[in-house]
Amino acid sequence: MKAKIVVLPGDGIGPEVTTEAMRVLKAIGEFYKHEFQLNYARLGGEAIDFCGEPLPDETKTHCQEADTVFLGAIGGPKWDNPKAKVRPEQGLLGLRKILNVFANLRPVRAIPALSAVSPLKEDRIQGVDIAVVRELTGGIYFGKKTRSASEATDLCVYSKAEIERVARFACELARHRSGHIVSVDKANVLETSRLWRETVTDLVEKEYPTLHLDHMLVDAAAMKLIQQPTYFDVILTENMFGDILTDEASVLSGSMGLLPSASLGVGSKGLYEPIHGSAPDIAGQGVANPIGAILSVAMMLRHSFALETEATAIESAVDEVLSAGMWTPDLAFGDHKPVSTRQVGEAVVAAITANEIWY
Ligand code: IPM
Ligand code: MN
Repeated sequence: MKAKIVVLPGDGIGPEVTTEAMRVLKAIGEFYKHEFQLNYARLGGEAIDFCGEPLPDETKTHCQEADTVFLGAIGGPKWDNPKAKVRPEQGLLGLRKILNVFANLRPVRAIPALSAVSPLKEDRIQGVDIAVVRELTGGIYFGKKTRSASEATDLCVYSKAEIERVARFACELARHRSGHIVSVDKANVLETSRLWRETVTDLVEKEYPTLHLDHMLVDAAAMKLIQQPTYFDVILTENMFGDILTDEASVLSGSMGLLPSASLGVGSKGLYEPIHGSAPDIAGQGVANPIGAILSVAMMLRHSFALETEATAIESAVDEVLSAGMWTPDLAFGDHKPVSTRQVGEAVVAAITANEIWY
């Protein structure tokens, strides 16, 4: 197949992990005879430095014309001035909005080879396989903001239609998994959460009566994720709760650097990015974990291009590399000798190649 992909390396460790992700994508293209046309563009801090805008028109146009979009990471202390009019994050939020990718899928899996790296005891994380569906283009992130010298407000708005479409996405996913959905809200306090709970309940009753739906308050869910993560299969939640819970959930598998994500809407165009940030403290050192970015490429192949074999090839290669102990410093502990970002990328490519020849 032929596909046009916009690549937004971004800031901090973004460019380093993107290099490895694209190394893997190119290898897949060669082995499976696909033509991936990569078009690099600017987003976030690097775009602010270049033209004063976190989401330049040129980037917008490229993204709208492409089949799909890959992003490394954005942000950093350089652009953190609270008085600044523009911030890198506005670029990412704007991009999510214009691409209308309202459902953010973040898979969290226990990786057997890394059981000793997880902060939880092995018996708690064994078998963890959670799909978090985070609403991505609404809620407090996008509501009106006000600021005076002595007061500030952020408005949280959700419409029924916004809740329904993301809930439907989660239900479709749950149908192909265990059939259990936990919808997370704060319905004891927030009106938006009460609408959320009502809407999700109605939708499941009417359209997905065979699914098993539970509701959980976000504070309880934060606790349960640590206490009994295997309780969860599909988690459905709103924008900010999803942001916080997925950072928490990401360390179950050992490091946030491992987690990919797919932001999807209607149609096949998506935005694929690791869930980690730009990690300015380690940027430029070649030690960032590229696995989250590499697995985001696998998600792209699966969700935007329906290339299941290719996606699985990447995931199996990643498992092999991790099992072989090729760990970046976020995973390596004790006297385990860490490897570099590039070594991981090259090892994943080598594993893909070896498997291809073997079978
Ligand atoms: C994420 C990030 C973003 C978010 C930031 C960078 C705006 O934390 O993708 O989880 O909060 O959505
Ligand atoms: Mn986040």
